[in-house]
Amino acid sequence: MSFSGAISYRATAFIVVAPLLVLVVIYACLWPPGVPTAFFRLHRGANTTEITPKDELEAALEGVAMENRTLVIAILNKAYVEQNAMLDLFLQSLGGGEDTEFLIDHVLFVAVDQRAFNRCRTLELHCYNLVTEGVDFSREVFYMSDAFNNMMWRRTLFLGDVLRRGYSFIFTDMDVMWLRNPFSQLYRDGEDLQMSSDCYYRNPFGNSFFNTGFYFVTANNKTVALFDEWYARRNNSKGMKDQDVLQKMKRGGAFTRLGLKVRALETTYFSGFCQMSQDFRKVITVHANCCASMKAKLIDLRSVLEAWKVNNSNGTSNATIAWPPIKGICLHDTTNKH
Ligand SMILES: *[C@@H]1O[C@H](CO)[C@@H](O)[C@H](O)[C@H]1NC(C)=O
Ligand SMILES: *[C@@H]1O[C@H](CO)[C@@H](O)[C@H](O)[C@H]1NC(C)=O
Ligand SMILES: *[C@@H]1O[C@H](CO)[C@@H](O)[C@H](O)[C@H]1NC(C)=O
Ligand SMILES: *[C@@H]1O[C@H](CO)[C@@H](O)[C@H](O)[C@H]1NC(C)=O
Ligand SMILES: *[C@@H]1O[C@H](CO)[C@@H](O)[C@H](O)[C@H]1NC(C)=O
Ligand SMILES: *[C@@H]1O[C@H](CO)[C@@H](O)[C@H](O)[C@H]1NC(C)=O
Ligand SMILES: *[C@@H]1O[C@H](CO)[C@@H](O)[C@H](O)[C@H]1NC(C)=O
Repeated sequence: MSFSGAISYRATAFIVVAPLLVLVVIYACLWPPGVPTAFFRLHRGANTTEITPKDELEAALEGVAMENRTLVIAILNKAYVEQNAMLDLFLQSLGGGEDTEFLIDHVLFVAVDQRAFNRCRTLELHCYNLVTEGVDFSREVFYMSDAFNNMMWRRTLFLGDVLRRGYSFIFTDMDVMWLRNPFSQLYRDGEDLQMSSDCYYRNPFGNSFFNTGFYFVTANNKTVALFDEWYARRNNSKGMKDQDVLQKMKRGGAFTRLGLKVRALETTYFSGFCQMSQDFRKVITVHANCCASMKAKLIDLRSVLEAWKVNNSNGTSNATIAWPPIKGICLHDTTNKH
């Protein structure tokens, strides 16, 4: 790894961004919920569902899902598909992880702009075109902007549709590195929804702060109702991210009312830059959360993959590890809070 060219960038970026990052982390770790990290494009039209014919989605789901109607869903936009950008890293992680390579066949890449779709096809991945008309939101969008919110909502609508068709899935942001097969670590105790968290506090049914960048949802009546209700709140949730709205629904008792069992996933297994897993034998995913810019995410995720490759190559890695220092402007909180 060479980061020599990054020094001045880092220095400048640090001065400019440090105060902002402090706010981001306070926001992520003290106030619910966390910071979503994906960038999507979206146009919510009244005719959204007509634009994507239902049988096309059905065919795509059938082609990708495993026998048990379970699949992985990732959203792809043109910022992700550049050379050496997020998609490459994501695929690299799947290709080099433990028992993860076969999963590439079970990921549905949902493209939200034409370039992403084309690149997806070129790479011969399973692609679904969710290209919608109207405003082009495919540039990098800052996480509190309207465009960002719209993308989030579009995603909620689409994923609700998948559930309604009886498919369970892991949703993953593209900036989540898959180091191990997560399916083996998911709970099977009647959980309807298992969601990653920025900061995990002991109790999986307690006050952990959800991050909608990685979760597993089981298709059933209750989860369909959840996604319907979640999306229905859109018009009354101006300026709130879909993730905030979910957190609010939780506080308002919606999970209980709908009879949902919702579990927060431990960061020891499903970790991120907000709270890194310190156990190499357990870590499954690493999410570039608590990190604002695409450039920083890429730098830091590359070093995560590198460390994984180097330290895990003999299969003898020990419990406690030191991840390399985060080189970009991402914060690296090594003090596990549980
Ligand atoms: C939705 O699409 C139909 C045709 O597919 C069209 O007749 C209708 O006007 C559209 N509605 C809106 C709000 O654009
Ligand atoms: C679905 O099947 C796959 C492949 O056999 C397995 O790894 C996964 O755990 C199953 N998923 C669920 C939710 O049972
Ligand atoms: C809920 O699911 C069950 C099957 O699991 C089905 O029989 C029932 O009709 C569903 N209820 C609703 C309200 O959709
Ligand atoms: C939001 O409001 C618009 C009209 O302002 C309406 O067409 C749309 O269906 C509403 N969406 C939801 C989820 O209620
Ligand atoms: C893991 O690998 C990195 C190189 O990427 C190295 O700097 C670090 O010291 C290694 N950690 C351990 C615990 O071996
Ligand atoms: C893995 O093996 C190589 C040589 O076989 C050795 O240099 C390296 O230190 C080992 N790494 C770990 C983490 O044990
Ligand atoms: C792992 O660490 C323990 C002490 O914590 C040590 O006894 C053991 O030899 C280590 N194993 C490897 C493979 O490094």
